[in-house]
Amino acid sequence: MATITIDTVGKYEDQNVTISGWLTHKRSSGRIHFLVLRDGTGTMQATLIQGETDEQTLKVYTELTQESSLTVTGTIRKDKRAPGGYEILVSGIEVLQIAEDYPIAPKEHGVGFLMDHRHLWLRSPRQQAILRIRHAVVNAARKFFDDQGFTLLDAPIFTPSSCEGTTTLFETEYFGDRKAFLSQSGQLYMEAGAMAFGKVYCYGPTFRAEKSKTRRHLTEFWMIEPEIAFADLETVMKLAEALMVAIVEGVIKTRQHELELLGRDIKMFEKIQPPFYIISYDEALQILKDAGESFPWGEDFGGGHETIISNHFDKPVLIHRYPAQTKAFYMKNDPHRPEVALCVDMLAPEGYGEIIGGGQREDDPAILKEKIRKADLSAESFDWYLDLRRYGSVPHAGFGLGIERAVAWLCGLEHVRESIPFPRLMDRLYP
Ligand code: 4AD
Ligand code: MG
Repeated sequence: MATITIDTVGKYEDQNVTISGWLTHKRSSGRIHFLVLRDGTGTMQATLIQGETDEQTLKVYTELTQESSLTVTGTIRKDKRAPGGYEILVSGIEVLQIAEDYPIAPKEHGVGFLMDHRHLWLRSPRQQAILRIRHAVVNAARKFFDDQGFTLLDAPIFTPSSCEGTTTLFETEYFGDRKAFLSQSGQLYMEAGAMAFGKVYCYGPTFRAEKSKTRRHLTEFWMIEPEIAFADLETVMKLAEALMVAIVEGVIKTRQHELELLGRDIKMFEKIQPPFYIISYDEALQILKDAGESFPWGEDFGGGHETIISNHFDKPVLIHRYPAQTKAFYMKNDPHRPEVALCVDMLAPEGYGEIIGGGQREDDPAILKEKIRKADLSAESFDWYLDLRRYGSVPHAGFGLGIERAVAWLCGLEHVRESIPFPRLMDRLYP
């Protein structure tokens, strides 16, 4: 007898099989009893019939509670009325464990309660759909870079210095006398990698001690960060666009069912084709003004502003050349307009806001040294970084895509917390 998984039942019509899983729920209608079984690959109906199924099995059925683990034996039958088109006519049930009272009942729960039970909440269809889409996003992004000859280079998590500003740095003791910081971005290491391999990317967790409780901020999030030697702002704007197209294509190709379960409109995603909208910071400012927002030149956009700008477009929009003063020390200033940086942010539509940040890097050793000094960063811990400009400096550029922000948009989530298996927020470190 074959031991099978639910995703393959179609191949076993009229055959006797066993399936292991968990009980989602059960219900009875007269002489017929139904179990809804979940095994990680899908859910299906298991049927017992009074008078036909043996007494012992019927007794076991009555004892089963929600989320009990079990192995079911029976015959696969085609049944139009069954969800998925097949059911298993049960001849035997082996119980692995009768579950205690399951805290997540099939009723409404508050987000706080569900987040406290995140380890169990992952079993629900909606959470599985989101996290399967996340997997597809990561796969598509990595395949995109692999196919274009990028080398995967893992960046360290313990770092000696800040990369994205000292105010959001997590600090930890490093063997008593020294301090280490949790990486805010792998970028600086990717710059070293680009000088060795030409085109590199890293994919890993990054950390920000963001004291903001917004729907866009996690304290631990995952980024994919490409970096290219002999490249400028234009190169990475094109690359960011091509990456997002590849991600959307990958997701609609492999996860249509999950997108539908989440109520997403596939047609909207099919429109995510090049060219994306490209505007300057100054033009973005005009959009804000037209929307009645007074916004001074020289400041970075807040979440609310990004929402207004991104609602303005039906596809992602690339905003380039922000005021240099709002951006990180490593950005190269535009030689034609030194008050702006050669940088770009990509904003997702539907009000989702920034999903990508990047640009061209400062490649002049003297200017970079001065920028490090002005940013109040320790010259010592950046000496290695300056070496990249001392020994064969070349124009180079890159960006970072925040995986959770992208998943939140693709899945239409209200908050990034559902886009990662175990979110870390300012007020959440459990489970
Ligand atoms: O714009 P950011 O801060 O850029 C960098 O870290 C660059 N060093 C990347 C590079 O050029 N290699 O972050 C990049 C992206 C953002 O666009 C956003 O999608 C995501 O990372 N991100 C966050 N996601 C969740 N929670 C947070 N607190 C995030 N901060 C940034
Ligand atoms: Mg940014």
